[in-house]
This record gives sequence, structure tokens and C-alpha cells, in this order.
Amino acid sequence: MGAVLFSVLLLPHPIAAEQDKITLNEKGFTSSQVCGKCHTQIYQSWKESMHAGSVTDPVFQASYMMAYFKKGPATAKLCLRCHAPTSVMTKDYDLTHELPGEGITCDFCHSLKDVNLDNPDNPFVLDVGKVKRGPNIKGDVKVHDVEYSQLHSSARICASCHEYRPNGVPVMTTYSEWKESIYAEQGTNCQYCHMPESMGEISKNVPGPREGKIFNHNLAGGHSVIQLKKALALKITGVTRQEDRMTVKVDLTNQGSGHRVPTGIPTRKLVLYCEVKVGEGKVYREQVVYEKAIFNSQGQELVHDSDIMLGLGSFVAKDNRIYPKETRQETFTFFIPKGKEALVTAWVDYLYQPVILQPTEMRVEMNLDSVISTP
Ligand code: HEC
Ligand code: HEC
Ligand code: HEC
Ligand code: HEC
Ligand code: HEC
Repeated sequence: MGAVLFSVLLLPHPIAAEQDKITLNEKGFTSSQVCGKCHTQIYQSWKESMHAGSVTDPVFQASYMMAYFKKGPATAKLCLRCHAPTSVMTKDYDLTHELPGEGITCDFCHSLKDVNLDNPDNPFVLDVGKVKRGPNIKGDVKVHDVEYSQLHSSARICASCHEYRPNGVPVMTTYSEWKESIYAEQGTNCQYCHMPESMGEISKNVPGPREGKIFNHNLAGGHSVIQLKKALALKITGVTRQEDRMTVKVDLTNQGSGHRVPTGIPTRKLVLYCEVKVGEGKVYREQVVYEKAIFNSQGQELVHDSDIMLGLGSFVAKDNRIYPKETRQETFTFFIPKGKEALVTAWVDYLYQPVILQPTEMRVEMNLDSVISTP
């Protein structure tokens, strides 16, 4: 790629001297660090995001390595299309270079002109160089060319990576789950929940364009405890006892998530626990797991992200994840000693099992409800 550089045009400004040295790559992608010289606040929140870490993330690295061992160099093109998407243009599949190492970069997203969802293997329609595309209709930017882009305020931009159906198997369907939900009908896009507006500077010393507000770029998702707690409501709706049989009814509602819970990569699971503690004595526990399970043609469940993302699955054997706004009513039955007080507790854990050298488990306790049942 030609490394033609041009200097950013300048206006008389107190920070002009500093900006003077900043150059954007006219013929190719510019590093996010350069964008970050002016867009300091957006850069900082992006830097904390999983988008910025989509290559350096040790969970990805471990799984990418496993995939590479299994399928060889073709793996690079496959995985990096979404995890280091500048590679679709630069063909720079060596992760030691700076640009692919930046993951999903500023300039990648802001050089997107369109996405073609009918061509899922290469959905990105890019125009890389001088023009940065964004959501502001009245873009009177003087330091670099800008163009209004409706795409950036649409869920379609996210769909280019958050929908993945290798060989027709619906591996990740966050976009279509949203598309079929009330949120799509109401026009509540992904950005509304994942890039909420807050006060900030769009560029150094330039306040946000909408009453001082800018879009947040850290895209908090399943790894954010706040997002997770917002997503689900849990309530014990009834406890009945008859002789030694106790029946507990629990309602679990997906109240705040714009797609099914859990969504995305199928190794994520949600577990609802119901526990009964009788006096100071025994603890009884039951659970329900909400998940999507992908099996291969031999009827074995794929448990590694690497196998799933390589597209080695043939069918979805189970999918009981909770739809947006759905309330799932579960009934648990326990056989416990009669005539004793019991503490009934229900809670949900969000579980993911990334492979980092050794299998580990991470849990986030999301919501909890408990009642005391007197005999
Ligand atoms: C020399 C400073 C500077 C650099 C470097 C810079 N920008 Fe900007 N950019 C600005 C300013 C100033 C604005 C206009 C803010 C305003 O007044 O709305 C802007 C606006 C934008 C917009 C909003 C467009 C719209 O109106 O919707 C986007 C998107 C953008 N820049 C992306 C980038 C990207 C990506 C990079 C790195 C490749 C970058 N910028 C590098 C200063 C800079
Ligand atoms: C170029 C591909 C690409 C695009 C475009 C994209 N994403 Fe992502 N996104 C990813 C990848 C890859 C990850 C996982 C990164 C990792 O390995 O940790 C991710 C992670 C996320 C996460 C964090 C998930 C978690 O588990 O916490 C959220 C939330 C998210 N994206 C939302 C969005 C939204 C909203 C949009 C549209 C505005 C969008 N993404 C556009 C590829 C993309
Ligand atoms: C995953 C794609 C993605 C990445 C990566 C990304 N952006 Fe954005 N950016 C967006 C989207 C989408 C919007 C518009 C959100 C909306 O309209 O709801 C946006 C908005 C903006 C705006 C306009 C802000 C406003 O409030 O009007 C600027 C400026 C900007 N981004 C700069 C950057 C910079 C600088 C980086 C890197 C540090 C970056 N973006 C990384 C997708 C991205
Ligand atoms: C109504 C708000 C809302 C909308 C709309 C929404 N999300 Fe989410 N999203 C959430 C909440 C809350 C969570 C955390 C709970 C969960 O995992 O579902 C989340 C989680 C995620 C995750 C992390 C999943 C994981 O398992 O770690 C990704 C990725 C994501 N959303 C992408 C998207 C994309 C892409 C869209 C649009 C197609 C979208 N979201 C629309 C609220 C929303
Ligand atoms: C179509 C785009 C796409 C392709 C192709 C893709 N990924 Fe991803 N990957 C994503 C998105 C989006 C996420 C975030 C999922 C979520 O949280 O919902 C993700 C998440 C992951 C995660 C979990 C990261 C974490 O921190 O939890 C791993 C591991 C992963 N991908 C590995 C791979 C491997 C290995 C390949 C190639 C065999 C691959 N991916 C191909 C889009 C893609």
C-alpha cells in the first residue's frame, strides 16, 4: 500500500502547534493513535472496549491458536475479517504489526460506506482515505473531510460482524434476534443501548455536537456487570408446601436486553439456580441452563470457541435462550423434611468458559431473590 501522507488543514487555534504534526494516511488506514490525538475522549473509551482488544484479548488469542493448529493459514483470513478487519484490505495477517493489532479500529468503522449483508463473507464496502463518515448531519468539520452516513446510526453496521452463519448454521445471531424484537420495531438500535450519549468533547476543546453530548465508544456488553444487571429481572412468585414436597415458582424476565440472553458466541450460558436451605441443615439445589448448543455431524457438542467459530458445527441441538421482553416461568420441586422453616433463594449467574491455557470458569452473579417459607 502506498504510504501517501497529507497534512491536516489547520485553523488558527490554541492547540494548532500540536495538531500541526498530525498526519492522516490518505491512501490507507490511519492508526487509531493518530485519531486519538484530537478525539482524545472517544479514543480513551474505545481503548477500554473489547473492540480495541479484539486481537490482543488473551481469550481470542488462545482460541485463534487452537483454530490455527486445526485448519492452518486459512484461519487467519476467516477470523481476522471480524477481529482485525483492516486485514480485509491490507492483507496484513501478521498480528505482530501495529495496525491489525489495534483490532477494530477507528478508521475501519469510519471508512465504512455501506455493508452488504447479502455477502456475509465480505460485507464491508470501504472507502479508505480522506473522508471520515459519521452520524452528524451538519458536519462542518474543517480539519479533515467528513460525510454524513446513515449507516452509522443503523444496526446494520453492527450486523456485519454480530451475525455469523458459517455453512448456514446460525452460530451468532445477535442482529437477527434484535431485528425480530420489539426494539427493532420501535427503532431502538444497538447504539442506543451500547453507545449511549453522555457529556464530552467530540474532539479536543470541541464540545459534543448534541447539547455537548457524544456517543460512548466502550460498547459495554456481556462483560459489563452493570449491563448484565439491567438485563434481567428475577422474582420468586410462589412457594407451596405439601407434606415433604416444596414447589417454587420463579419468573425470569429479559427486561433490558435488545436480543436474546445470552446472545453472541454460544459458549456463553445463563444459569438460574434455586436453592432451599432447611433450618441449619441441608441445602437442596436445582438449576436451569439457558444456552445455544451446536453439534457436529457426529452428534457431538462443540464446546470450544475455536471449533464453533471455524464453522465445524452442523446443527443447533438446543436453544432455550430468553427472548427480549419474554418472562420465563420455571417451577422447581424439592423433597425436604416436613415442618421446618426453609430459606428459598433464586439467582442467576452468567457463565462463560474461555480457554486460556487451562479451562477456567468465570461467573457473574446477576440478580437474586429470596423468601422464607414457614411450615
Ligand atoms: C487534527 C485533529 C483530528 C484528527 C487527527 C482526526 N480528527 Fe476527526 N474530527 C476532528 C474534528 C475537529 C472534528 C469535528 C468536530 C465537530 O465540530 O463536530 C472531527 C470529526 C470527526 C468525525 C465526525 C463526523 C461527523 O460529522 O459525523 C468522525 C467520524 C471523525 N472525526 C473520525 C476521525 C477518525 C477515524 C480519525 C483518524 C483516522 C480522525 N477523525 C482524526 C479532528 C480530528
Ligand atoms: C468489524 C467487526 C465488528 C463491528 C463492525 C462491530 N463489532 Fe462489536 N465486536 C466485534 C468483535 C470481534 C468483538 C469481540 C472482541 C473480543 O474478541 O473480545 C465485539 C464485541 C462487542 C461487544 C462486547 C461483547 C462482550 O462480550 O462484552 C459489544 C457490546 C459489541 N461488540 C457491540 C457492537 C455494536 C453495538 C456494534 C455496532 C455499532 C458493533 N459491535 C460493531 C466485532 C465487531
Ligand atoms: C465498531 C465501530 C466503531 C469504532 C471502532 C469506532 N467508532 Fe466512532 N462511531 C461509530 C458509530 C456507529 C458512531 C455513531 C453512533 C450513533 O449514531 O448512534 C460513531 C460516532 C463517532 C463520532 C461522532 C461523535 C458524535 O457524538 O457525534 C466520532 C467523532 C467518532 N465516532 C470517532 C471515533 C474514533 C476517534 C474512534 C477510535 C478511537 C472510533 N470512532 C471508533 C462506530 C465506531
Ligand atoms: C435495549 C437495549 C439493547 C439493545 C437495543 C441491544 N443490546 Fe446488546 N446488550 C444489552 C444488554 C443489557 C446486554 C447484557 C446482557 C446480555 O448479555 O444480553 C447486551 C449484551 C450484548 C453483547 C454481549 C453478549 C455477551 O454474551 O457477552 C453484544 C455482543 C451485544 N449486546 C450486541 C448488540 C448488537 C449488535 C445489537 C443490535 C443488533 C444490540 N446488542 C442491541 C442491551 C441491548
Ligand atoms: C463474523 C464475524 C466473526 C468471525 C468470522 C469470527 N469472530 Fe470471533 N467474535 C465475533 C464477535 C462479534 C464476538 C463477540 C461475541 C459476543 O460477545 O457476542 C466474537 C468473540 C469471540 C471470542 C470470545 C472473546 C471473549 O473475550 O470472550 C473468541 C474466543 C472468538 N471470537 C474466536 C474466534 C475465532 C478463533 C475465529 C475464527 C475461527 C472467529 N472468532 C471468527 C465475530 C467473529
